[in-house]
Amino acid sequence: MLEGEKVRLRSFELSDVDEIMKHWNQMELRILLGAMDRGPAARNQEEEWIKDTWKLRQERKAFLFAIETVADNKLIGGSGLFKFDWTSRSAEVGISIYNPDYWGKGYGVESLNLLLRFAFKDLNLNRVELEVFEFNRRARKCYQKVGFQAVGRRRRARFIDGQHHDSIIMDLLREEWSTGQQVD
Ligand SMILES: CC(C)(COP(=O)(O)OP(=O)(O)OC[C@H]1O[C@@H](n2cnc3c(N)ncnc32)[C@H](O)[C@@H]1OP(=O)(O)O)[C@@H](O)C(=O)NCCC(=O)NCCS
Repeated sequence: MLEGEKVRLRSFELSDVDEIMKHWNQMELRILLGAMDRGPAARNQEEEWIKDTWKLRQERKAFLFAIETVADNKLIGGSGLFKFDWTSRSAEVGISIYNPDYWGKGYGVESLNLLLRFAFKDLNLNRVELEVFEFNRRARKCYQKVGFQAVGRRRRARFIDGQHHDSIIMDLLREEWSTGQQVD
């Protein structure tokens, strides 16, 4: 359904838990996601989270997808849309490639392009927004590559690993995306 050359976006399944548990408690990933303050996650919490993604999708409150490689059907991360404002046709976007072996190889850009196509062409959204830590250069570059622009800064808004950090707000309008190379 949402398939590109390198990745497809699909529903999370309970059988994904083993792969998620290999990566989800790694400090480097948690710091990049600002999720250190949650402490370690237990296996059954992840199973419950997967079940929640099904319910939230049915209720149209969040569309959270697993990212899987096309070449060998391997789960490498997750990506999704949430915090919908259906009146304004706006939502937030998030992505995490859990497995660091797959960072910096184009999987993020392709996953986001598939998700944006779903957001604008299937859900008929008008705007998507995200928040990224200033220090997360790889993520900022990835977002820029798919068309997001920085529109604001939350100064010292997040306390991560012993320090306050600025986060950057980026957004993308449908008309900007549809004039880009992503559209057929
Ligand atoms: C952020 C993330 C989704 C990006 O996906 P990715 O597959 O790693 O990124 P891509 O390879 O598609 O694109 C990254 C771009 O940034 C560049 N890049 C990589 N590391 C970089 C760095 N340290 N500084 C600047 N640019 C960098 C890459 O070269 C690439 O640009 P290019 O194609 O012009 O060469 C992924 O790395 C990830 O999930 N990281 C861990 C969790 C995270 O940070 N999530 C985002 C939270 S806001």
